[in-house]
Amino acid sequence: MAGEILRGENLVKRFGGLVAVNEVSFEVKKGEIFGIIGPNGAGKTTLFNMISGVYKPDEGRIIYEGRDITNLKPHERARLGIARTHQVVKPFPGLTVLENIAVGALFGPRYGKISEDEALEIAREVASFVGLGDKIELPAGALNVQEKKRLELARALAAEPRLLLLDEVLAGLTPAEIDSMLGLLRKVRDEKGVTIMMVEHVMHAVMNIAERIMVLHFGRKIAEGPPEEIANNPDVIAVYLGDPSLALKFVKRRGGAS
Ligand SMILES: Nc1ncnc2c1ncn2[C@@H]1O[C@H](COP(=O)(O)OP(=O)(O)OP(=O)(O)O)[C@@H](O)[C@H]1O
Ligand SMILES: [Mg+2]
Repeated sequence: MAGEILRGENLVKRFGGLVAVNEVSFEVKKGEIFGIIGPNGAGKTTLFNMISGVYKPDEGRIIYEGRDITNLKPHERARLGIARTHQVVKPFPGLTVLENIAVGALFGPRYGKISEDEALEIAREVASFVGLGDKIELPAGALNVQEKKRLELARALAAEPRLLLLDEVLAGLTPAEIDSMLGLLRKVRDEKGVTIMMVEHVMHAVMNIAERIMVLHFGRKIAEGPPEEIANNPDVIAVYLGDPSLALKFVKRRGGAS
């Protein structure tokens, strides 16, 4: 596909008898915001773990920027510009916000070629970009939920990724905080040109921001398309959205304040 940054081909991941990801194929375009939704246990995080290199797929291939990365280690993929946030945020609580972000810079594509001072400089810029400019000297453990989510995003951004995998960055945020985070994510894509794949349970938010959405259910891909199409897809409604009127509401909210 022209303009493609990432492609998964027939990806399979098994845990014992359980097939957590089952023959999933997809393509993500450069500069796109690509959403992944699905009920708990659908295989979303497992898919991210295969893309970031935590798990090697049992079957299938992962092609990034035209190159087969299926057998690369996580740090090798990080150096190619793939960064991620974690569903459960665990900053180093004793390090300052600035130091936590700098860790991201040190272990990104410039690993071994960047000094600590340079990493701290990048961290400072990223901290203000994500709105943590006035918190950089605080220990990370002192941050509230929203700030920790921003820190997690900042750490990933400090690695100057070309592909960013976000695992539920909106979880636990208030509606106002979600709006503000969505604005920030748009800025990441528009100003930094980063391609974003996001796993999300906050349905109206992902419907609002993603250009295309893939739906997983028991490890299988059951639908993919623009948000309007997904919200009206009978299979998706049946397994996930449950209620057609709710699905309609998601579509109506697109573009408006959520
Ligand atoms: N390391 C593991 N060992 C065994 N089973 C696992 C492992 N990781 C995930 N699973 C199982 O694989 C399935 C998919 O899990 P996964 O975490 O990918 O789901 P998810 O879509 O991210 O769910 P959630 O929305 O709850 O985060 C689940 O049944 C889960 O219990
Ligand atoms: Mg998950």
